[in-house]
This record gives sequence, structure tokens and C-alpha cells, in this order.
Amino acid sequence: MSESLFLQRQSSRFLAAHPREAGWVVHEFGGDSAEELSLNYLLDCLREWHPTAITRRTALPLVGVGAFRNLISACAASEASISNSASEEANAYGWRGTIELIWNGHDIHCHMFSLMLGKGCFGIYFVATKSLAAFRDLLLVLERYGKARLKEKKKEIYVVNGENIPVTASSWDDLVLPAQMARDIRSNVEGFFASPERYAALGIPHRRGFLFAGPPGCGKTLTLKTLASNTPAKFISVLGTADVDDSMLRHALDLAEGCTPAVVLFEDLDRMVQAKGVSISHFLNLLDGLKVLNGVLVIATCNEPEKLDPALLHRPSRFDRVWTFPLPALEQRLALLRKHGGLYFSDGALTEVARRTQGMSMTYVQEIVVNALLECAHEDKAPGDSDLLRSLKTIRAQRKDASKGVESLEEQDSVGFCMSN
Ligand SMILES: Nc1ncnc2c1ncn2[C@@H]1O[C@H](COP(=O)(O)OP(=O)(O)O)[C@@H](O)[C@H]1O
Ligand SMILES: [Mg+2]
Repeated sequence: MSESLFLQRQSSRFLAAHPREAGWVVHEFGGDSAEELSLNYLLDCLREWHPTAITRRTALPLVGVGAFRNLISACAASEASISNSASEEANAYGWRGTIELIWNGHDIHCHMFSLMLGKGCFGIYFVATKSLAAFRDLLLVLERYGKARLKEKKKEIYVVNGENIPVTASSWDDLVLPAQMARDIRSNVEGFFASPERYAALGIPHRRGFLFAGPPGCGKTLTLKTLASNTPAKFISVLGTADVDDSMLRHALDLAEGCTPAVVLFEDLDRMVQAKGVSISHFLNLLDGLKVLNGVLVIATCNEPEKLDPALLHRPSRFDRVWTFPLPALEQRLALLRKHGGLYFSDGALTEVARRTQGMSMTYVQEIVVNALLECAHEDKAPGDSDLLRSLKTIRAQRKDASKGVESLEEQDSVGFCMSN
């Protein structure tokens, strides 16, 4: 299916659902005019300021060029009603799909879809209403909301094949890693951006590639967010776990080229290079093409580096530094538990839990505290040490279910811990 046919189908479908004879007027916005009207903030604006106005919301996936060529089903799916869960859309900047709302007593139906065309992401909005006055009023509110958001100057990681990732001001203190490792990553990234002239003096291109490897849930993505929040460079990301194809990879690098200094993130590289639409030789060519670019840092993450094509790792200038994020040692587990649970639980209980979580990722360790606090909130009681230990049991059982057969030291029972309450 060609792009224009797809566009035509989208618009005729929306027009058919909102016939003129029934009093509907359909407006179409794209590019700059949509941005000027802050239409991209519509969902956020309604959720934050007028949550009861929304009567129906269905989400829509991003439609890549690959979808036109190979996956007609993706086009069909994009017309079906796919509801996102609220958590997936916590910050919906760049919403897609349908929002139906009632404004000043009048129905307003909005439909937005975006297409990856060549280098750009092209967004089109349809708005159908029977009351122009109501729509104008909505636009005024939207304008005010857009201005407020602009003032916040929220930093985001721009995601080529998914929703952008908002970056809250996170400090290096929130990240628990072996001390030397965090310092090393930080100084390498800061050093890269601080000294372009050093590269020039040495006659080498100002570009490097880093790889963060290690099991899931140990802080690779959190480190990227921390870097994004503390580095004055544009961050552009491609997600290996989402629909990805060659054109998106190229798009990310083209974008970076246009806004150096920039960091290009390839998240879950091991998954990315296995994607149907990605050719490894094309990817290697792209990386090598970057040699002539100045000011682009590439950082990839992966869970299983041993599964990567050796050509990716063993050629200098592709990924010249590899950091492995290990499963956390006792010291780090305790530090994380204290950070999240220090206010509620005794140090004895936290130490006990740290001891009994060997082999667990940071995500699981954190979950023990979060789960304990949530349970107490549900039961409407103050959290105590026994709740933390109960939560440890719950999470351990969950984890065992998730990875049947993987036994570790954490299964050993504790000795000698006295609960303080
Ligand atoms: N090293 C860490 N320090 C602090 N929190 C962590 C760490 N690792 C994981 N977490 C917690 O677990 C969540 C998921 O970790 P993430 O960085 O996404 O893991 P991954 O290594 O799979 O990218 C984080 O958002 C954070 O809440
Ligand atoms: Mg990750």
C-alpha cells in the first residue's frame, strides 16, 4: 500500500464517520499549524486539566515505512481500536489515535496519526465538530496549556520508534552502581563533550561508541536517563524492543547529524539486530559512516553481548568501550534498599533482605520495598519490618514463577534475624 493511499484511507474513514449532512465539520491540521495550536498536547492537557471531558480514547501504533512494504496487517491494526493502558501513556506527549471529548456540551472527535516518511515523522490531525465555537474555546485552553509546558522546558529523550521518554531531573546519587564504574562512565561521557578540540588536535573524528551490557533490571536504561538529564546534548533513541527497521536507524543518525552534539541510543541492541526489518550489514555501514561525523556519541545497551555479531564489537570505532552492569552485590542491594525503604524499616531488616536477595536484579530488590509499602497502604497501616519480610517472600515467589528452575543463594533461608516489631 502506498503512503498516499494510506493517507486517503485514513481520511476517508474519518470523513465517513463524520458526515457533513449530520452537521459535522472536519478540520485537518499537519506540520507547523498543528504544532502552533499545541495539538500534540491535547491528551496531556485534557488529562491534567479536564480529565472528565474525555469520553473515549483509543491509541494507535506508529506506522513505519516497513509497514507499507511488508506488513499490511500493521496498517489494518492501526485502524482497529487499540487501547493503551494508562501507565503506558502516563506522559502522552505525541499521542496518536482517537480522542473523543465533550467540550461545552458539544462533541469533538480528534484523530491523529503519524507516518515515518523518509527522514521525517509526519503527523496529521483531524478534528470533527458540530460547534466551531466549542472547538475555538478548546484551542484557547490548549494554547494556554502549551505555553505552560514550554515554560517547564522538560527534557525528553526523543524516541524514533515510540513515545518520547520524559527525563526528570535525576541525579547520579539515585543510581546505585559500583562506585568506580559510575565515575568512569560519567567521566567518559562528560570528557567526550568537553573536549572536541582534543580530538581535532589529534586528527581523529570526534565520535565514540559505548556499550552497556548486562542482565535486565540492573540500571542500564536508568544510567542513560541520568546521562540525558545531566548532559547538554540532544538524546535520540531507537528501541530494539519495538517495531524497528533500517529506515528508523537511518532516521536516528540523520537526526543526530542535524543537531550535534548528540547522543544516539540503541536500546536493547541484541533484540534490534534480530528484528525482521533490520539488516546487520546496513547497520554496520551506518555506524562506519558516522566516522566522518563530529560530535555524535553512540551508546547501545544489550542483555546478552555474547549473542551480538562479533563484527559489531571487535572493530574499533564501533563500540570502543564496554561496561558490564553486573547483578548487584550485597553492598549495592543494601544501598538501594536503604534509599527506598530507609524511612520505614529498621536497618536490621533492610540488611537481612539485602543478604537474602543475592542473584536478584535491582528492579526486583526495589520491588520488595515498593510492594511492602503498597500492601500497607491498602491495608491502611503503618509499614513495619514484618511487612518487608513478607514482601520479600512474595517477590521471591513471583520471581521463581517467572524463571522456573533458576535457583540461587537467595533461596537459602535466613538465620539469626530478630524482627524488631
Ligand atoms: N543500578 C540501579 N540503581 C538504582 N535503581 C536501579 C538500578 N538498576 C535498576 N534500578 C531500578 O530498576 C528500574 C529498571 O532498571 P533499568 O535501568 O531499566 O534496567 P535495564 O538494565 O534493564 O535497562 C529503574 O528504573 C530503577 O528504578
Ligand atoms: Mg533497559
